[in-house]
Amino acid sequence: MKDLLRTADLSRADVELLLDTAADFAKNPLRSSGALANQSVAIYMTKSSTRTRLASETAVAHLGGHPMFLRGDDLQIGRGETIADTARVISGFASALIVRTFAQSDVEELGKWATIPVINALTDDDHPTQLLADWITIREVFGKDISGRKFTYIGDGNNMANAWMTMGAILGAHVVVATPGGKWAPKADAIATAQRIAASSGGKIEVLTDPEGAAKGSSVIYSDVWMSMGDPEEVRSEKLKALAPFAITKNLMDLASSDSIFMHCLPAHRGEEVSAEVIDGPKSVVWREAYHRRTTIQAILYHLNRGELMGNI
Ligand code: CP
Ligand code: NVA
Repeated sequence: MKDLLRTADLSRADVELLLDTAADFAKNPLRSSGALANQSVAIYMTKSSTRTRLASETAVAHLGGHPMFLRGDDLQIGRGETIADTARVISGFASALIVRTFAQSDVEELGKWATIPVINALTDDDHPTQLLADWITIREVFGKDISGRKFTYIGDGNNMANAWMTMGAILGAHVVVATPGGKWAPKADAIATAQRIAASSGGKIEVLTDPEGAAKGSSVIYSDVWMSMGDPEEVRSEKLKALAPFAITKNLMDLASSDSIFMHCLPAHRGEEVSAEVIDGPKSVVWREAYHRRTTIQAILYHLNRGELMGNI
């Protein structure tokens, strides 16, 4: 496996390896501080980022490399240079390319032409690096035995909903996604991919429109913003109205299991998708989750560069 372009690229064994290594990087951040010595990693983003940028730059530094941060309009790509040409040039300088942008197809095009590993750091469709941070956090709380547990995402059927279903499927989890449905439902192909993976992993995928039913008995309640980067402003009022019943409140958390936790990839909007009482309350693990963005990106860089991820083919 050369690139991490989609969550579904990862096999169960890859995820286990990455989570184990990330746990090690949490204990000993500088364990492999020569792995990228005298090498650069390009980090190219056409959307805003706090956590992913901080985590990526720190991960590269901890591996002994030099992060080169490139904003969308820094490159000639914004003036019409092709993705293929850009990928080939970056490959001559950097040892890996971490990329955040809108279209999933652009990240796949970069992966096709780059001779170095390309890592998806969020697209409109997916957010694979986030899901690794989420699952190492889940394991810190509940351990590796997830039998009988339910892992629930409630909110917009966006990139996070897609990635949540897919990673849960890879790990054989019982995953629930509750959205308002219709145009705010997860994409049909994302549901189909997760269901296909779940069929062989022993996982279970439920896609619902009932937030209370979804929350009931869950070990994890996960939320994300209702307006994602790139969502058109014109849809805001209609979308927020449709999503209002999907806000994570104390009442909704009370339906979850007694040992339940609240998770959120962040940034959060208190008073929209989650109440301050929940995200700042005792069940919230969002700061640990954010911390693990570094340990997991460090693990991805480490293993991809060594050619140690097998992929699921
Ligand atoms: N969760 C996440 O990707 O955060 P940023 O958008 O701040 O990178
Ligand atoms: N769904 C959000 C996730 C941010 C980390 C977005 O795409 O903006």
